[in-house]
Amino acid sequence: MDAITANSLGRETDILDFLRLARGGHVSGQVICEALKISRTAVWHHIRHLRRLGYDIQASTRRGYYLHSSPNAPLPTEVLPLLRTGSLGRDLLYLPRVDSTNRYLAALAEQGRAEGCTVIADLQSGGRGRLGRSWFSPPGVNLYLSVLLRPSLPPQRAPSFSLAVGAALHRALHRVVPEVKVAVKWPNDLFIGGRKLAGILCDMKSEADRVHYLVVGIGVNVNGMRRQLPPSLRARAVSLREAARHPVSRPALAAALLQELAAVYPEWCRHGLKPFLPELERHSLLQGREVTVDLHREPVHGRVVGISSHGGLLLESHGRRREILSGDVHVRVPHAAAGAGA
Ligand code: BTN
Repeated sequence: MDAITANSLGRETDILDFLRLARGGHVSGQVICEALKISRTAVWHHIRHLRRLGYDIQASTRRGYYLHSSPNAPLPTEVLPLLRTGSLGRDLLYLPRVDSTNRYLAALAEQGRAEGCTVIADLQSGGRGRLGRSWFSPPGVNLYLSVLLRPSLPPQRAPSFSLAVGAALHRALHRVVPEVKVAVKWPNDLFIGGRKLAGILCDMKSEADRVHYLVVGIGVNVNGMRRQLPPSLRARAVSLREAARHPVSRPALAAALLQELAAVYPEWCRHGLKPFLPELERHSLLQGREVTVDLHREPVHGRVVGISSHGGLLLESHGRRREILSGDVHVRVPHAAAGAGA
């Protein structure tokens, strides 16, 4: 399926501009034809295309067209007008369906696509999670977004970036739904009240001393309801809509995320993870808690005392400090409180 881009929606974008300027009023087909120098039939075709994308455009023979409502979908026509970043996300590809946005974008990266290219899908048939897991990606409700970056850095620096992305995502969520308290769970999951809201998967291609590219993939449960989840996820996942008790704009969240990434990326390139540590620790689900880390089949117990500048989890375990670089962390919940933890 072809990607939908600002270019492929050029005329549709022009028509939407007219309709939006009219602020709920009508715009005559004749005015659009003359301004865009296209025929009435062409205008009709573009209107039909917009309707197929989810725009509710009403037509009256006497008064023309008016925009009744826009879809809550992260289409370029919805996200780009909200963007204030220089380049990140301007080259935006929207796919109604793809196997994985990370995989699709990595293929574009191999063909030399420039930094900042962003792929958003409505549905992923093979959404990928960390540690070889899959990412449940139904259509119409969530955000599945990948961004291409080409930092001029050695690959050893890269692992900490996914934690900085966690900070960017936390900031974006705070901007869009400030009433919802979101926590960051090391290394880079976002949680609400012990259930997972969002995850980050960074794929990298590199050689010994330089990164070729990073594909930063972000999945957020935005408007799904618990009953729509597979039974195995019902107790573990949460959506913004469930937490905020109202539907959330997918385009606004996509734009906020691209803005925050555009701010975090150059700062991380210059200074590494250090500037983000106080923020990450402040919003950490794990800070000060007793945890178990599954490490190469050998569990490590300890109390979380912070995050290192490499992005490792700092544990105090049997009187000594350990840095955990990867693994799955479980909060050790006392029996009486079982079920309330992460
Ligand atoms: C995790 O396991 O927590 C990471 C989940 C990452 C999911 C996102 S959705 C967009 C991008 N494309 C993918 O296939 N995965 C990431």
